[in-house]
Amino acid sequence: MNTPRSKPLPGNLVNLADHEAHARRRLDDNAWAYFNGAAADGLTLRANRTAWDELTLVPRVLGTMAGGHTGIELLGHQLHHPVMVAPMAYQRMAHPDGEIATALAAGAQGAGLVVSTQASARLEDIARAFVTLPPASPLWFQLYLQPDREVTLSLVTRAEAAGFNALVLTVDAPVTGVRDAERRAAFRLPTGITAVNLPSSRPGRDGHGLAGGLAQSTATWADVEWLISTSRLPVILKGLLHPLDAKLALSLGVSAVIVSNHGGRTLDTAIATATALPRIADAVGDSLPLLVDGGIRRGTDVLKALALGARAVLVGRPIIWGLANAGAVGVAHVLRLLIDELEMAMVLCGEPSLAKLRPDLIDRIGTSNRSR
Ligand SMILES: Cc1cc2nc3c(=O)[nH]c(=O)nc-3n(C[C@H](O)[C@H](O)[C@H](O)COP(=O)(O)O)c2cc1C
Repeated sequence: MNTPRSKPLPGNLVNLADHEAHARRRLDDNAWAYFNGAAADGLTLRANRTAWDELTLVPRVLGTMAGGHTGIELLGHQLHHPVMVAPMAYQRMAHPDGEIATALAAGAQGAGLVVSTQASARLEDIARAFVTLPPASPLWFQLYLQPDREVTLSLVTRAEAAGFNALVLTVDAPVTGVRDAERRAAFRLPTGITAVNLPSSRPGRDGHGLAGGLAQSTATWADVEWLISTSRLPVILKGLLHPLDAKLALSLGVSAVIVSNHGGRTLDTAIATATALPRIADAVGDSLPLLVDGGIRRGTDVLKALALGARAVLVGRPIIWGLANAGAVGVAHVLRLLIDELEMAMVLCGEPSLAKLRPDLIDRIGTSNRSR
């Protein structure tokens, strides 16, 4: 592999925030505006974090932890732990190895991987780099419906052939969103970095090629039904925040839902995911597996997400920080830190397994951001 920018990882990176500070020094303003930026005033970006912070854990003590583990079941897969890598575009802008490094690291850490439609490496190459220990971790392809159905179909067919296990249809970004940071930095993709899996004329969705005409090709529920009927893979919707949309998804035969506001990158002032998650969980009960992302930075955040009804979480920007800091090793380190923290949080809360967490693990009283 090509690793000209890799340097040893400094020993003082002990958590994800340390990775962020270090990555800021390694990425230029252009890349930083894209990777760490958010929509408009960044209120949802911040709210995502605050909402996890405001939830407090109520531990039990002295229970037996014998046989404890982080394993979970999701869509028929046995997962080593519930931490997955969120789909993110253009990873070669963070490191020359880009998505290939992320795939290697995710596989090595037993983490599920979601690959973006706008990946800067070929989806077949990414799938090949994703080598996992048994039981195999999930490999999902994130799909933006393309204006041309033939293009969408060819992506689906390629993903199926390359061994992806599910399609993740992202529905919260029919337009890019008001990206002030990117506009201020006059963001542009560096030469040579493109969404290589799309026809070359196709405008990107997350971060460039904003507006003009995109809204005319936005997906609808009918497209969701079409996709379900077209592919043999399970269809997962990413970017739901309203309980009624989750109910609709369930009634149409969607296999899982990712509660997400795109990490605060699309609609600013959208509800924090930690607030939306329990409301959606109430609406659909156990009938629809839920995942969540947005602001997951600590093992305790993962535990809280699962206690609020998620089966698994996705992590976005921290993966980019790790990638920028040390390629595959950096991504693996970020994932390891989070999983280790999760294990520690489980033991300290008296929860030997994630399958059924106590409902009273989270204190719902006195938390401003999560009235139900
Ligand atoms: C740089 C970047 C690129 C992204 N690209 C995509 C994408 O191509 N498709 C998609 O569904 N979500 C995309 N997302 C959203 C993430 O999948 C995820 O929802 C979000 O980053 C989670 O929040 P977090 O970054 O706070 O962990 C992107 C996010 C970032 C930060």
